[in-house]
This record gives sequence, C-alpha cells and structure tokens, in this order.
Amino acid sequence: MISTYEPASKKIRHYSANACLLPICSLYGAAVTTVEGVGSTKTRVHPVQERLAKCHGSQCGFCTPGMVMSIYTLLRNHPEPTSEQMIAALAGNLCRCTGYRPILDACKTFCKVRSSDDRNSRLLFSTDEFQPLDPTQELIFPPELMRMAENQPKRTLSFHGERMTWISPVSLDELLDLKASYPKAPLLVGNTSVGPEMKFRGVFHPIVIAPARIPDLNVVKCLDDGLTLGAACSLSVVKDILTNAVVEFPEEKTKVFSAVLQQLRTLAGEQIRNMASLGGNIVSRKSTSDLNPILAASNCMLNLASRGRKRQIPLRDIFADGVGNNTITPEEILVSVHIPYSRKGEYVSAFRQAPRRENALPVTNAGMRVLFEEGTDTIKDLSIFYGGAVSTTVCAKQTCRTLIGRHWNKQMLDEACRLVLKEIALPGSDSGEKVDYKKTLIVSFFYRFFLEVSQSLKTMDPCHYPGIPMEYRSVLQDFKTKMPQSIQIYQDIEPSQSPQDPVGRPVMHQSGIKHATGEAVYVDDLPSVDGELFLAVVTSSRAHAKIVSIDTSEALKGPGVFDIITAHDVPATNEFYYSDDPEIIFARNKVICVGQIVCAVVADSDDHAKQAAAKVKIEYEVLEPVILTIAEAIQHNSFFEPKRKLEQGNVDRAFETVDNIIEGEIHIGGQEHFYIETQSVLVVPKGEDKEMDVYVSTQHPAIIQVIQTASLGVPANRIMCHVKRVGGAFGGKLLKAGLLASVAAVAANKTSRAVRLILSRGDDMLITGGRHPFIGKYKVNEEDLNVHLEEVAEVSLLKMDNAYKIPNLRCRAYACKTNLPSNTAFRGFGFPQSALVTETWITGVADKVGLSPEKIREINMYKENEQTHFKQKLDPQNLIRCWNECMEKSAYYSRKTAVNEFNKQNYWKKKGIAIVPMKFPFGLGTRYLSQAAALVHIYTDGSVLLTHGGIEMGQGIHTKMIQVASRELNIPMSCIHFCETSTTTVPNACASVGSAGTDVNGMAVKDACQTLMKRLQPIINKNPKGTWNDWIKEAFEQSVSLSATGYFRGYNENMDWEKGEGQPFTYFLYGAACSEVEINCLTGDHKNIRTDIVMDIGCSINPAVDIGQIEGAFVQGIGLYTMEELKYSPEGVLYTRGPDQYKIPAVCDIPEQFSVSLLSSSQNPYAIYASKGIGEAGLFLGCSVFFALRDAVTRVRNERGLKKTFALNSPLTAEQIRASCTDDFTEMVIGRWRGGSV
Ligand SMILES: Cc1cc2nc3c(=O)[nH]c(=O)nc-3n(C[C@H](O)[C@H](O)[C@H](O)COP(=O)(O)OP(=O)(O)OC[C@H]3O[C@@H](n4cnc5c(N)ncnc54)[C@H](O)[C@@H]3O)c2cc1C
Ligand code: FES
Repeated sequence: MISTYEPASKKIRHYSANACLLPICSLYGAAVTTVEGVGSTKTRVHPVQERLAKCHGSQCGFCTPGMVMSIYTLLRNHPEPTSEQMIAALAGNLCRCTGYRPILDACKTFCKVRSSDDRNSRLLFSTDEFQPLDPTQELIFPPELMRMAENQPKRTLSFHGERMTWISPVSLDELLDLKASYPKAPLLVGNTSVGPEMKFRGVFHPIVIAPARIPDLNVVKCLDDGLTLGAACSLSVVKDILTNAVVEFPEEKTKVFSAVLQQLRTLAGEQIRNMASLGGNIVSRKSTSDLNPILAASNCMLNLASRGRKRQIPLRDIFADGVGNNTITPEEILVSVHIPYSRKGEYVSAFRQAPRRENALPVTNAGMRVLFEEGTDTIKDLSIFYGGAVSTTVCAKQTCRTLIGRHWNKQMLDEACRLVLKEIALPGSDSGEKVDYKKTLIVSFFYRFFLEVSQSLKTMDPCHYPGIPMEYRSVLQDFKTKMPQSIQIYQDIEPSQSPQDPVGRPVMHQSGIKHATGEAVYVDDLPSVDGELFLAVVTSSRAHAKIVSIDTSEALKGPGVFDIITAHDVPATNEFYYSDDPEIIFARNKVICVGQIVCAVVADSDDHAKQAAAKVKIEYEVLEPVILTIAEAIQHNSFFEPKRKLEQGNVDRAFETVDNIIEGEIHIGGQEHFYIETQSVLVVPKGEDKEMDVYVSTQHPAIIQVIQTASLGVPANRIMCHVKRVGGAFGGKLLKAGLLASVAAVAANKTSRAVRLILSRGDDMLITGGRHPFIGKYKVNEEDLNVHLEEVAEVSLLKMDNAYKIPNLRCRAYACKTNLPSNTAFRGFGFPQSALVTETWITGVADKVGLSPEKIREINMYKENEQTHFKQKLDPQNLIRCWNECMEKSAYYSRKTAVNEFNKQNYWKKKGIAIVPMKFPFGLGTRYLSQAAALVHIYTDGSVLLTHGGIEMGQGIHTKMIQVASRELNIPMSCIHFCETSTTTVPNACASVGSAGTDVNGMAVKDACQTLMKRLQPIINKNPKGTWNDWIKEAFEQSVSLSATGYFRGYNENMDWEKGEGQPFTYFLYGAACSEVEINCLTGDHKNIRTDIVMDIGCSINPAVDIGQIEGAFVQGIGLYTMEELKYSPEGVLYTRGPDQYKIPAVCDIPEQFSVSLLSSSQNPYAIYASKGIGEAGLFLGCSVFFALRDAVTRVRNERGLKKTFALNSPLTAEQIRASCTDDFTEMVIGRWRGGSV
C-alpha cells in the first residue's frame, strides 16, 4: 500500500499497487506499507490477516500477502465497505488454490451488509474468535513525511542508477525543457506501459522523466462544456471523478462519462488503475486501450504543450492515419484531456470483450456515439471507433460518413454492418487470435449499440419509435460480478468424541497466520548464503534442431558474470531415465523443443545473470520433422510405447446389429499449472565430502535427490533435500523440478558456491510443460452404449468410464511424441480429459435420441454388483446418493423449468443447466508408489516434532498429520510441531501426488505414534492420573526410546495389461455437480450463476481443508474447461507466457451461488480414519460448467433451427460460444450472409 499526503487538501491517499511495476524512485515522499507492516505474530496479527487465515482463505499461502494488502488498503479508505467495493478490490488478485470462496468469506466479515443466505450457512469458522477492526489502531502516516510535504518547497529530483537516470521536475516549463532536451525519454507516470516493455521486451531507456508531481498534469476542472482532467491523473482518480459527476449532473450531460466508466470498471485491476495514468493510456496508443475508442468517439480534446507552444487537438486526430504514430511530436507532452458533456439527442456507448471479464486486455472493444437531428431519428453525426482490431485504435470513418442523414432503422443497420466489415480490414492473425471472432464482435457491438439507441429513442418518444422487442432487452445489461453466496455442509462430530480430539473438525491451516503475515518462508525468502550466485537459464528457440554452435563470449563479458554452465560441466550423467525416454538436463547436440535448457549463466545477481543469458548466441540447423500437434504426431506415427488397449463385451458384434451410430471427436487443450510460486531452488555446497543442501520447491524431494546424485555422480547420502512448503504445485513440481535442481546443482558443483535459481513466470511457463492436451475420438451405438474409443493418454483408459457401465467397450490410448516441452502430472492426471470425452458422447447420445443428458446419465450409471471395464468391483451406492442429493439440493428440475422459461423470454441471452456425476478412482497402480514413512520425536519437555514424507503445497497435509498425531498421542495440536520434509529424516519418500498424501502418510504417522504409545503404556498404566509431561519424564528416566518411525507399505494395487484386468485402484470417490450459466449470444461472454456440489469423501479429517480442496479444484476445472488457452506460434513457441496472455479464473469467474455438501455417513475402510483422498477429484466437476454452456448453446441453436449436431472443444471459450451461436452476424463474417435484415 502506498500512502501519499497532499498538503493543499491536507488529505492522505492510500492505494494498492503492483510492486513489480512500481519504480522505487516514484516513492519519494510516500509511505509504503507491506504485509509485514500490517501485522505480525511478534507484535499483533491484524484482523485482516487473522480472518483470512481463520476463514481458511489461505492454502499454499503464496497469494495471501497480496490478498491481505488489497483488503487492508480498502479498509483504510472505507472501514465498512460494501460488498461491491470488496469484490472490486480483489479483481486484480489471483489465487490458484482456494477458488476464492473462503477469501471472500473473510472479506464479507468486514462488509456493511451480509446476505441472509450466508448467515444461514454453517460456517467453517467462528466469528466470535475474531478481533474487531479498529481503524484507530492503524499505523499513522509518518509525521516527518507530512512535515516534509508541507514545509519543503518542491524541487526537481534526479536519481542516477547503474544504467538509468530518473528526473522528476515540478513545473510544466521545466518539464517542457527536459522534453526538448531528451525527446526520446518517456514520461513515466504509472510505468504500466513502459515497465512491461522494459521488463519483458528488452526496451531500454537511459533517461526517464517523471511528471507526476506537476500540478498542471493533475488538474481537475469543471468547465461549461465538460471536464478537463490532468494527463497524470490515475485511472482510479478519473473513475472517482466521473462517478461523482454522473451523480451530480443530469443524465443527458453525462452519457460520455457513463460510457468511460463502463470501461474503467473492468479495465485491469485496482492495483493497475491506481498507478496507470489517463495520459499514459491515451498516448501509448495501444490497440488494446479501452479508453481511446470511447474518448475518440466522444470528441474528447487533448491539450498539448511543448516549449513555447500550446495547442488543442481532437483526440481522434491521433488515429487519423489509421496507425496512430504521428500528430503528437516527440517534444510535445499531453497536459490534460477534455471530456465533453453529452448533448440532447446524443447517445454514447462503450463495449469490450476480453478472455476474462475483469483484469484482462480486450480482444476487441468499441466506442460509439450518434447525434440525431433534433427530435428525429435522422443521423446528424456518427462516430465509431474500434480497439483490438489492428495495431491501434481505428475509426470506421467511411461508414460513419455514409450513414449521415439516414434513419435509425434496420436498413441502416444492415448497411452499417456491411460497410464496417469492409472498412475495418483485419490482418491475418499470427498470435492465434481468431480474426473471425474479432470481426463478429465488430458487427455484434454495433448491433448492440443499435438496440440500445433504438430503446432510448422509444423512451424519448414512445409514439414514434417502437423500441426493441421485450426478449431483446436483457442483452443491454452486461454481466456484473456480485459477491458470491456460499453454503458448505459437512459432517457433525460424534457427541462421544473428546473435545480435545481435533480429527473431523475444521481446523485452520497450521501456517495460515504466517502466510497472512508474510512470515512463512519459501525458497526465495531464504536469506542469502555467503558468496551466493544466481542462475539464469538459456533455452532453445527452435522446436527441433541441431545445435551448431554456442557463442558465450558476449555473455561472459557481462557485469557480474561468473561462469556459463553447459552439458560438458555435468560430472556424471546428463540424462535421467524415469521411463523409456530420457529427461535431459542440458541439451548437448540437438534440441527437441522450444524452451529446452541449453546452458545457464551464473552471476552475482539475478539481473546480471538474466542480462548475460540474453547475450548467449546459439546457432541452429533445423531438423525435420517438427511435430507440434496431436494431428501431426498421428500423421508421422510419432508415439510413445507401449500403446494400450482395454476391451470388454463384443464391440464388433454390437455395432453390426444396430443402425444408429454416433461418431465424433473432441479436442481438449492442455493446461498450465500456474502455481503462484514459480520453480525455485537454492543449492548450497557444504564444502566437504561433496555434501549439498538443496532447498527446493518440489512435491518429490526423493526424485530431486535421485536426479542430482545421477548427474553429479555422488551417492544419495550426500544430497540433503529440504522442503518447508511449496507455493502451489498441482503436479507441476515433480520431474521438471528435479531437472532444474540438477541444473543448479551442476552449477554449484562447478563453482563451489551456493546457487539460487528462481524461474521467472515466463520461463516457467515456457520450460515446464503442463497438462496433456488430448483428442478423444469416439464411436457409440446409442442403443446400448457400445463404445469404441481412441484416446491419447494411457492412464485415462482406466478412468474413461467415469460413472457408467459400458457393456461393450473397446478403448485404445496413444501417447504422442511431439516437439513441445513434455507434459507432466496435473491434478487428476488423465481423468479430467478422458471423462470429458465420455460426458461428450453421453451428451451426443442424448441429443440423438431426444432424451435429456441427465436421463442418459441416470440410465447408464453403475448399478450394484457391476464391475468396471477392467473387472474391478465397485459399490456405486454413494455415487447414486451423490447424484440424487445433488439433484435435490440444486432443485434441478424446477430450475430447469425456470431456465426454459427464461430462455423463452430472452433471445440474445440464454441460460443453460447441467448435472454431471463422477466416479474418481483412487490409486497409483502399484504398491511401492504408495508406501510412506514418518518419524516422530518426543522431547523431554513433552513437545513433539513430527515429520513424514508428504509435502505441504497448500493442501493442508501437515495440519492433517498433526491432527492425526494429536488423536493418537492424545495431546493438543499445539504440543506438536512440523518443521520440514527432508530426505535426511524420511528417506525414499514417494511423491505427494494422486490425492494420496494424507492417506498414506497418515497411516505412517499413526503407526509411529502407536509405537510410541505402546512404549509409554506401562508408564501411563502405572500413573493414570499423571500428565503427558510426567509420563515423558518418567519414560526418559526409564531409558524408553522417545523416537519412533512409522511405516505404511502401500496399497495392494495391480493391473495386468495383457489380460486387461486388475485392481489398479483401492477405492473410488464419488460426486456430482450441477451448474447453471447464462451466456450472451452476441459476445460469447458468460456468467457462472450457480453450482451445487455433493461429494463423497468418506469421513473428512478436516472439513475446512477438504472443502477448500474441492472448491479450489473445481475452480481450476472451470479454468481448464472454459478459459485457459495455451497458444503456440507455428514454430512451436509458446505465446501465452504470463498472466496477461494466459487467463486463470479470477474472483469474477466463480459461481454467484456456490454450495458444497459432503455426503453424510460415508465410511471408507481403506484409508486413515475412514477418510478419502480428495486433492484431485473436484477438478473434473468443473466440466458441469462446460456442459451447462453447451446446454445454453444447444438451446440457442434449437431456437434458430440450426444443425443439431455440433462439436464444442475444451476450453469452451467466449470465441467458441459466439461462433456456435450462429446468426446473421457470424454469417456476414464468413461470407454466407445473403443480405436481408439482421
Ligand atoms: C496488468 C495490466 C493490465 C492492463 N489492462 C488494461 C486494460 O484492460 N485496458 C486498457 O485500456 N489498458 C490496460 N492496461 C494498460 C494501462 O491502462 C496503461 O498501461 C496505462 O494507462 C498507461 O499509463 P501509465 O501512466 O502507466 O503509462 P507509462 O507506462 O508511465 O507511460 C506510457 C507511455 O505514455 C507516455 N506518456 C505518459 N504520460 C504522458 C504525457 N502526459 N504526455 C506525453 N506522453 C505521455 C510515456 O512517454 C510512455 O511512452 C493494463 C496494463 C497492465 C500492466
Ligand atoms: S493460497 Fe492462493 S495461490 Fe495458493
């Protein structure tokens, strides 16, 4: 939080900001509050920190300080905020773990009004424990800064760094002189445009001029014909001013203001709007500017100045040549912007469509204004500007000119669409952005404007103007984000359970408070080690090529560069075999994907290492073939072995005897893990016997140790891996973490120095690979579900049945070998893809036979005494219970009727609803992969140190393990401490994967504790009234060992692929989810209205943690199935390498009503305390949103009489939804439109 004091008004302004874009020089005279300043465990934990933790709003904790700061800043400005303010404050924060619901629960406790639904819900926390928020207890603005601002005359400031100079003048004249002297120097205000260019695109500015302190650039003037706002006003300030103006002035005058506000509400997040300036947005002339189209269309004026010259030009002029690159000279600066009042008979609107509703750059946007001859619908003036179409804002000049004098009617609309499509020529797309979608939006936005104005004309003169049909009106309202309401239902504790026994209770994450105070330590928080070096990797820029040469000469000359590490420096093996194909540490002779590590630079700072890495030159000779897609892999017969097949019944005969066969395919895109903590490792050579301490963010320390010992050629007993906690992993911190740790270890070995490697987000996304993309092909006989499937991932075969008995089934899996970074484990591992294929053909069958999908699902769901297609028995009772309960809790049938009713009454908006069942198999396929061990020490003061092989990555495993130990040892959780997972305490631990962490480590912890209790029992029996400490003291004095290991052999799982049968899973989790959505057929946008989940997870050890896992996974599933899109260049370069291009769900994406119920009275004999492993299963339920969207699209298509069969792929983005809702506008774009009225 930045706080500044304005002496003239004597006001203090507090605002949140993105630390990574905030230039330190801009903070002169400002107070900065970080999460550590808000509160700490050493002084006082702030109510925001306390409530976030206690409401379970923190899992891995990596996003938590950011959340704290956003909420805290809001509360400093509004101690009793509305829920709208709260939601807006969090729009710019991302969390990958929680699904936001618990974070919002914490937020709600500060809001003025709480909804009745929430009060009725059974909370997972007790508000009685919360400290009150007392604004008088907050840190005050430092008086010395206040005195400085009041007493010191403002003077020019200059700061000189190693390569840059920052000059901050205080008067306009001074600024103009500086600009004349340094015409190339950018004016830096918010740094949100220049900053990313310097950070990510290598642009360098030796001098920057910071004009934010100049009064002329901060003016706010209310003139006769409009408002004049200084160019340095932040977008938040602009938003506040316009909001007040809209309240103050009559509506007729404020249509421009309202349209600008419409854009500002969703433009970036609050942190960016607090920094970004109005002038910066305009002058950058980015195609994605949301302000320029509306400001240009509204006849805004720019007040420009240069030395000795002032002038005013219409903003539209800066786009007059269509590319927006002249008009403002390099010496000129923008002083202020004049936004005019609207006039009588004038209508103004702004539109945008982005990959995510909030905090995402637009795909296309528009600003439109029409002025009519007084009292008529004859167009006197028309302005249409678009953004996102070409490299800058463009004007549909010709179109507007042609339409002047025309009436506002359907003929005008037809012609406008035709003209505008002709005039706005979109270049072919190279960044994967579909041109057809943009074109469709261009005409759809105009149509929406047409509807809006037509309706306004009716309001003005209902006798002359009919307005628009009732069923069209809802499309005039954009979707808005509301504070979600949520319900969580979980089991009651047996009355007989001891109050001290924490098992089954919603206990807070053990690190929750530390996450919220910023005290929790991650790898990059570890203090620097003496002589430590930083490592930056150099990766391949070719997908398949021979390395001809590596020229490191320039890089080695860089400041602070210590060495460059290549394959030649690997002391032992450069290849690691986990399966048949090796993982390579450094590419030696050839590269097989873009992003493969070729070499690495070690330097004295992270910056120096990165700068030098950019100077390494690699010459390549391209090799053929370059295989980038599944289709190309099939074409080149490029597969991994073995190919797998499972079969039951007699598929061939079944197909011979029927007429109705459905065939189809679905493409499912990959998914980036987007753990908020990127891959991180610190390797510290200990100086003797080749020992090394490795601090690493991984979910599998043992594999790190194995890979390192192989690459360094040392025994495993020299490599000590330590993992305190991981800032999110989701399957992405296994093998790739091992390779990266080996890169750092080879560097540490060569330099004999500690080496730290923290991947940037861009490198992380480029290098690590994510979830496997998938093509599912199916052929189904609709009469009795005979299926033949060809799928491309082995494990998915075992799970492809989802919840259904398929009597005659043949399925094959092929894993494709491509020239993209190899994919890896990701929550659900194959199941989310193969079960989506199944649900797709289930829906296809429903369409074909004219039954509802839920009927087909019900008919084919597993019944008692049935077996899976690999002959494993299962008891589907709880599957059916989950389904029925979900039906009931969601009031499915009555809501379906309501959806039908809504759809009858609305043409351009449609709702959809879907309910999907789930059978999620638990198991890792063989016994040894689920073995686990624990080590428990009791110290003589009675305190207990617990460790086990599981990794804390947000899923609360340590909290649960302490709950287990607390029950077994019969002592409070506060007596038990968990320090770290380490290869020195628990050797050869299996990976924390496959939802198995709690199951297997829980068994081991229980075993260790029971061993200890057995040893203590004689002492307890002798002194039953004694205390824990008495017994421990006595045990020590009797020489009873107070340390024990515990062990769990693993589950007896097996699979015989030859026979196609086995018991690869130990048990099944069941669930069902019902989701309802609403789509906007003109843009493809959608809103998640409601989701009800019922899940069978046995007896929950910690319902807060488990519900958190279900909700977090579900929201990740929404991301997978509806939003997250990886895009590659034709050469195999990943385009989507950061949060600006790759959109994970944000607060605006979670259902407005979100309920999770845990199935009551469910027991699981196979796992600790009858629980079930819950980490992954919820993700698949995100597909209920996919199918609800499909339902909405189907209803659109049915109403329009469109072809019944249609294919939808995953992710089901706005682009696909828009394309599937075929109408005159989509037809115009693809050239099939034969004219007529739209
Ligand atoms: C995460 C993120 C999300 C974003 N989302 C959106 C979005 O959804 N929609 C959208 O429209 N924009 C979005 N933006 C862009 C943002 O709005 C602009 O970057 C911002 O308005 C630029 O203002 P600034 O003060 O930060 O510019 P700076 O980076 O400080 O400067 C930008 C450029 O403008 C010039 N300049 C600045 N002021 C003047 C002046 N007074 N006279 C002459 N030249 C000047 C500078 O010389 C420089 O070249 C986003 C940016 C980020 C980082
Ligand atoms: S808790 Fe939010 S990212 Fe992990």
